[in-house]
Amino acid sequence: MSKVFVSRLIPERGLKKVKAATDAEVWNSDLPPPADVLLDKAKECDGLLSLLTDKIDGDFMDACPRLKVIANLAVGFDNIDIPAATKRGVIVGNTPGVLTDTTADFAWTLLMAAARRLTEGERYVRDGKWTTWGPLLLRGQDIHHATLGLVGLGRIGSEMARRAQGFSMQVLYHDVVRREDLEQSMGIRHVDMDTLLNESDFVSVHVPLFKETYHLINDSAFAKMKNSAVLVNSARGPIVDPKALYDALSTGQIFAAGLDVTEPEPITMDDPLLTLENCVIAPHIASGSVETREQMSDVAAENILAGLAGKQGPAIVNPDVFAKGLRQ
Ligand code: GLV
Repeated sequence: MSKVFVSRLIPERGLKKVKAATDAEVWNSDLPPPADVLLDKAKECDGLLSLLTDKIDGDFMDACPRLKVIANLAVGFDNIDIPAATKRGVIVGNTPGVLTDTTADFAWTLLMAAARRLTEGERYVRDGKWTTWGPLLLRGQDIHHATLGLVGLGRIGSEMARRAQGFSMQVLYHDVVRREDLEQSMGIRHVDMDTLLNESDFVSVHVPLFKETYHLINDSAFAKMKNSAVLVNSARGPIVDPKALYDALSTGQIFAAGLDVTEPEPITMDDPLLTLENCVIAPHIASGSVETREQMSDVAAENILAGLAGKQGPAIVNPDVFAKGLRQ
């Protein structure tokens, strides 16, 4: 029977499948296994069901010669060196699709919370500051009829565009892939990055973290944004330069930000962003609905089980590995 290490307790639906078909060990702790423990466990295994908190590079794979498949419980896979995996014949899976709507819902939640100062208002009430209705109290930015700029129009970005239709918004997007079908069906506009930053009331980030997108939203990007603009990041923390974000928020260069992801994660308690009222910060929970996390566990389980049988599971990041040759 194949051996699999599951690097955290995952939802039941997928876990049951992995346990039924393999000799599975589960890391049953709230915190990730330390890097050396993860390596020790993976050395004994044919499959690894990993989380985005597990860093897996070529050296790791070399030290785990039995490891044939890695199934990441996430759509993002920047924690895994994909070219290194393909070179070594290791199959890598992720969990796209099942989390698209749930993640877009949460990005929208951040957008609304930051625009309308929801968390600041909540703190105001709980701190006993609410003495009367006030015409100038906690005024935010309108969402309806505003312009939404989507940095990236993949699955989640497209669902943001769809949600924006209900708020009568204009939608601009910037992506290396042009989606003329969506431009037609939703009346959205492809623009260059500068135009997007200049014209948008809301800038929402939906690109993966690559070398090219590291600190894509930096001082010079903030300088192009409106003073009334709201930034939303539900993609990966390092796409936004946190120092530049602090400067932009604290000087009024932009109005507010809503973040589900930070650099680093978790954010450190002395991070200056935590001192700002106009920064909404959630602990990387955008895909975290009960049903979506069950579905993610299901896809990750199917990726592991198919990979152990030398087959292509439902969502493989490096399908070219099958033609190049699998690790034996
Ligand atoms: C979460 O961030 C994911 O990539 O699924």
